[in-house]
Amino acid sequence: MENKILKIFRECALEVEDALEDLDTTSLDKTTKMGADGTPTSELDSIVEKVAIGSLKGDSDYSIYSEEYGLLKGGEEGNIIMDPIDGTSNALTGIPFYSISLAFTPGGFSDTTVGYVKNLPLGKEYYAIKGRGSYVAHGRGDDEAPVRIPNLPANKELNFSVYMGRKAHPDSTRIASLARRTRSLGSASLEMCMVAEGPFDLYHLITINKERSLRITDIAASTLILREVGGQVYQSRWVPIDMDLDISARSDVIAIRDEKIKEVIG
Ligand code: IPD
Ligand code: CA
Repeated sequence: MENKILKIFRECALEVEDALEDLDTTSLDKTTKMGADGTPTSELDSIVEKVAIGSLKGDSDYSIYSEEYGLLKGGEEGNIIMDPIDGTSNALTGIPFYSISLAFTPGGFSDTTVGYVKNLPLGKEYYAIKGRGSYVAHGRGDDEAPVRIPNLPANKELNFSVYMGRKAHPDSTRIASLARRTRSLGSASLEMCMVAEGPFDLYHLITINKERSLRITDIAASTLILREVGGQVYQSRWVPIDMDLDISARSDVIAIRDEKIKEVIG
């Protein structure tokens, strides 16, 4: 069943990629409505969500929790949690770093059995099936076999991804200064996958109020991908994350692969 769902997710991402090829993402910033998550939906969000839902509904009958649309009721077998574009503001401003994020759960957030995130400008996929590890691949054709994400090399210099800006908690500045290099890239799902893969040792998003914190649609898939390589995702120091299946629920996130980072950030 999980393999079938993964196939459905990969196909959906290819359809979204194809649709994006014909679009100038920077010209689609007009707000079309308020999304189910309580934030404005851009024209780009609407177009991509329509393609993604069309693809998923053509191939399955699961309920879909989608960031803009909300809950699209389906059969009782399980739920898809989807963010059609994670990193919308990057796509709208021409920063080539955004993803589609898809998760499947037969129950709640923490029961997720399939997680899939695709870096759309690069065509790079990250995915995991519960109990079977996490993989990276490219979703065009069969020419590249998936590669299991390996263990991190020891003793490298630290690279952090820390959410910064007006809504960031003031402690974020201290955390950012603890690494050799710190970035804030604007797509939570991808940055968490990069903690799983190794470029980042920490993903940190702590806000002053929950208004800019993350939703199930941003993080359900990447949480499984990180957990499957032995990493952890916390909602605060050091409380493991769990969230209700509710599009408007928000949570801060601290994601690490190596427990040692807890001592580094204190
Ligand atoms: C956003 C991204 C970003 C995070 C924001 C989210 P969206 O998702 O994940 O990294 O800092 O809080 O809203 O809105 O592009 O789906
Ligand atoms: Ca989104």
